[in-house]
Amino acid sequence: MSEVETLLEDDASVKGDGFVEVDYDDLIPNNVNLSSDRQLKRALEQWQPEYIDWWKAMGPDGFQASDVYLRTAVGVDPAGWAKFGHVKMPDYRWGILLAPEVDGRTIPFGKHKGEPVWKEVPAEYRSLLRRLIVVQADTEPASVEQQRHLGRTAPSLYDMRNLFQVNVEEGRHLWAMVYLLVKYFGRDGREEAQALLERRSGHADNPRILGAFNEATPDWLSFFMFTYFTDRDGKMQLASLSESGFDPLSRSCRFMLTEEAHHMFVGETGLGRVIEATCTAMKKAGITDPHDIKAVRALGVIDLPLIQRKANFHMSVTRDLFGSEVSGNAAAAFSAGLKGRFGEARLDGDDHVLEGETYPVTRIVEGKLVSEDMPALRAINSRLLDDYIADCQPGIERWNRAIAKAGIDFCVTQPHKGFNRRIGEFAGACITPSGDIVDEQTWNANRDSFLPTEDDLQFINSLMKPCHAPGSYASWIAPPRTGINSQPLDYEYVRIA
Ligand SMILES: [Fe+2]
Ligand SMILES: [Fe+2]
Repeated sequence: MSEVETLLEDDASVKGDGFVEVDYDDLIPNNVNLSSDRQLKRALEQWQPEYIDWWKAMGPDGFQASDVYLRTAVGVDPAGWAKFGHVKMPDYRWGILLAPEVDGRTIPFGKHKGEPVWKEVPAEYRSLLRRLIVVQADTEPASVEQQRHLGRTAPSLYDMRNLFQVNVEEGRHLWAMVYLLVKYFGRDGREEAQALLERRSGHADNPRILGAFNEATPDWLSFFMFTYFTDRDGKMQLASLSESGFDPLSRSCRFMLTEEAHHMFVGETGLGRVIEATCTAMKKAGITDPHDIKAVRALGVIDLPLIQRKANFHMSVTRDLFGSEVSGNAAAAFSAGLKGRFGEARLDGDDHVLEGETYPVTRIVEGKLVSEDMPALRAINSRLLDDYIADCQPGIERWNRAIAKAGIDFCVTQPHKGFNRRIGEFAGACITPSGDIVDEQTWNANRDSFLPTEDDLQFINSLMKPCHAPGSYASWIAPPRTGINSQPLDYEYVRIA
């Protein structure tokens, strides 16, 4: 029995207030009483080896035999959901964990507001619900595929471990969604579960469903941008689905959100440490001008304007994930009680049904950006995007405080909502990061100051040299403040095999 399993055995038997026991005797750890549903159990046990095959083929490249200091969920309450120990990734205990049922929960929004939540799929919404689950599910293996080569260039063992932690948790999120598909959608669900292991990020014929999940994550700056900006889209989507009237989906997403928080922590602190390394190196070399690119890059750190251009790219691509700002599908999912707004149950100021309500949506009318009051139901996506943009801001402000503290005159900002968009109100429009509508020629002439250039990407790539000795960190990233689970910074977070 491995170290982790021993830890798990110890803990799984502990029960306290609100503690939901996880059954680790099962092949598939779960708190959904899987052993009582033999048909479901058999279907999932059939899917499991195929999942492991997918993980070995498409999961982290080159480190499958290494022991990684991972956190495994052993329960879903705040005190009991994480245990740490070295484990080989293919042996990770991916489980099915739902947040506890809330007694007497009612549907918090839409046409069915106030009715008891559904424990089974409502027949009239079956296909809509299935689509929502499949789209969410597809993002989970996609990000693992996008990040699979990063281990080789990890800037430290600490960062490598965080990457793998994010990867195994995205794998668990896939499990969470596949459980819903297989349990509640019969044969269709089993087929969808299969297709989730067959699509491939970036594949020409069988790509992942959403655009941003087919972009490469070729380097660690991209990884930190992805975990800060794109995993935060995941947070917004999961939060909206956690309001769902379909209770098993709500409970799944509520637990997934606790894991998503860690992914955004990796992004925020990762980018914070990149910025810290740049500022420290500039200060030491007596460089005060952040635009003195040559001098800054000669220090082996990433210049701040390039960080801004990378952020512009990741933010704009991620905003497309919210779909069209004005959307009949989003209205339908809301009215049906399947997908709410961010923080729906806590929102006051309207009736949560939204018939006759309006929401201000930024649109292009006669070549100008204007705010137009739209029916709130059709503006659900627009509102979620606005909430997302607001949610991105606090971390950016923390980075800016660190830059100011180093005495450097530079501010990371969010580009205008309409910048570089492919989907929705602004698709195809030429809008600058500062929010000016310009002609195509002007936009193209300035493109290289908006978005990373080939040169930029080559420079980032030149920094991606592995730093795999315990306690050593690449030049372009500062060590973290503290280690994982109170371990020291030079702990052997990954024992490379
Ligand atoms: Fe996820
Ligand atoms: Fe995530």
